[in-house]
Amino acid sequence: MSDLKVAAARAALDQVRSGMRLGLGTGTTASEFVKLLGESMRNGVLKDIRCTSTSEQTEKVASEAGIPMFALADVAPLDLAVDGADEIDAKLRLIKGRGGALLREKIVEQQARRFIVIADESKIVERLGAGLLPVEVTPFAREVLTKRFAEMGLDPVLRMRDGSMRITDEGNVILDVRVPASKDIAQVVDEMRALAGVVETGFFPTEATEAVIAGAGGIRWMRR
Ligand code: A5P
Repeated sequence: MSDLKVAAARAALDQVRSGMRLGLGTGTTASEFVKLLGESMRNGVLKDIRCTSTSEQTEKVASEAGIPMFALADVAPLDLAVDGADEIDAKLRLIKGRGGALLREKIVEQQARRFIVIADESKIVERLGAGLLPVEVTPFAREVLTKRFAEMGLDPVLRMRDGSMRITDEGNVILDVRVPASKDIAQVVDEMRALAGVVETGFFPTEATEAVIAGAGGIRWMRR
């Protein structure tokens, strides 16, 4: 599987040109891209690249790869963002956030002219929402929103890490919900977002412009 992640990352790297401003995603696949990018910058194949990150975690991977990082406002709008996804459907809609970085990811990716998703073929789904949908909420609203989501039939579970609540880079918490197969995910997301305290969800309906999917049979591009 990790070979496929590297293959997808390499295909996205082929789209990077010197002088570009880039958004770097979060997760194991995005990390492969960051490492390859660092290599190309170090050996001088790519020059004058300015990057911003979607998480503290990626910031660390990037600095280990020797990539200088900039604040989003200093480099936006971006030429390109590259990131992984948890689920991808045929319309190029995504679920993201299993790594907990959904809010910064969406902010950065909405600032990019192109957003290439990199993934292995296991991420392709027929129905978006087959797995968990992460929802970032303010700590103040956590308990009441947990109750409300349960009433909506969404089976919310508070994301934990090392025995404590997972706190996001923006200081919020994550409720992982399940969208019943009988419901339309876009409608459920609208209903959740109408509730104060819901900061963002991992549903990315329009952000991705293309996806590079690596499988046993090679690389396949999906375009919007
Ligand atoms: C991080 O918050 C996520 O959105 C990741 O992009 C997503 O979970 C994909 O991660 P992997 O590449 O590790 O599967």
